[in-house]
Amino acid sequence: MTDAAKSKFTPRVFSGIQPTNHLQLGNYLGAVKRFVEMQNSGVETIYCIVDLHAITVWQNPGDLRNATRELAASYIASGLDPKRSILFNQSQVPAHAELAWIFNCVARMGWMNRMTQWKDKAGKDAEKASLGLFAYPSLMAADILLYHATHVPVGEDQKQHVELTRDIAAKFNHDYGVDFFPMTEPVIEGVATRVMSLRDGTRKMSKSDPSDASRINLTDDADTIAQKFRKARTDAEPLPATLEGLKDRPEARNLVNIYAALAETSPEAVIGEFAGKGFGAFKPALADLAVAKLSPLAAEMQRLMADPAEIDRILGDGADRAAAIAQPILDRVYDITGMVRSRRR
Ligand code: AMP
Ligand code: TRP
Repeated sequence: MTDAAKSKFTPRVFSGIQPTNHLQLGNYLGAVKRFVEMQNSGVETIYCIVDLHAITVWQNPGDLRNATRELAASYIASGLDPKRSILFNQSQVPAHAELAWIFNCVARMGWMNRMTQWKDKAGKDAEKASLGLFAYPSLMAADILLYHATHVPVGEDQKQHVELTRDIAAKFNHDYGVDFFPMTEPVIEGVATRVMSLRDGTRKMSKSDPSDASRINLTDDADTIAQKFRKARTDAEPLPATLEGLKDRPEARNLVNIYAALAETSPEAVIGEFAGKGFGAFKPALADLAVAKLSPLAAEMQRLMADPAEIDRILGDGADRAAAIAQPILDRVYDITGMVRSRRR
């Protein structure tokens, strides 16, 4: 972590994931695994399940409830400890929605219009997208700034949203003449900040890709994982002797990166080991490694999912602890913006 975030703010990490579908390998390597590393580095960490963001596009209520509990189980099975990190779902802390409203009045339409995720998700028919989808980045800024978070670990695709969070913080500070919100830093590090689809090396691996073969889900069993890697699209060349040789081979590059991230080594080291070998040798090695790393995680998720009441208890406890940090910050925001707060609470 850099120390560029203003020193008056104590380091605090915040990140979130939407409870939609199962987590895929890109989420795990690009986000959750990094969350665990940050927790273990001793800094204060808050990890959210952003259910209010999820409903910016239609969610079946029963599916949303399941996905929220499953994401909590994925967090814990991956190594997030509910005692050391604060784990909760967004809708249980109303301050997120309240601060998002204030930020809706700070952020400009033009800023939202420039977001590539908005353009991708709204598609050609932006008129039919929900107002919530347009305001999505404003709620994300609220998630982060409600805790004065200084660092946000995310994958590459979220960089623009964290930059917008800084713009909102800066405009708020400027408009109200305060130095209240920090300039939050995105933390986008490691070899797996953009894991690509197994079917197309130019598209990112995604939970919402219609092709299940394009991704490894954390819930996939060993056979499915092995089969998906075996069928992954590649070229016919053996692996080169240097990284340079992977330059115009996006699919091969992606598999090497995945191997490196899972093995916690560098792509150079992977190339060093497999140079000159074909995919007939590399893919089974990759599948074995992935199964060894992911199977225990899937088993632990299943165990946790068998006791939803315990998951709900953990999320409730996390929400209480999150609210205790958020409420005084929100109260200050209401003060700064001139809201009269005389009601006894
Ligand atoms: P999402 O699935 O959009 O809710 O993303 C949750 C987190 O996972 C965010 O930090 C994303 O940047 C990260 N993420 C999603 N897909 C990938 C991917 N293919 N490679 C790396 N990180 C990803
Ligand atoms: N927009 C993020 C994604 O789709 C999820 C998210 C919501 C988030 N609020 C956040 C990430 C705050 C980091 C910090 O992946």
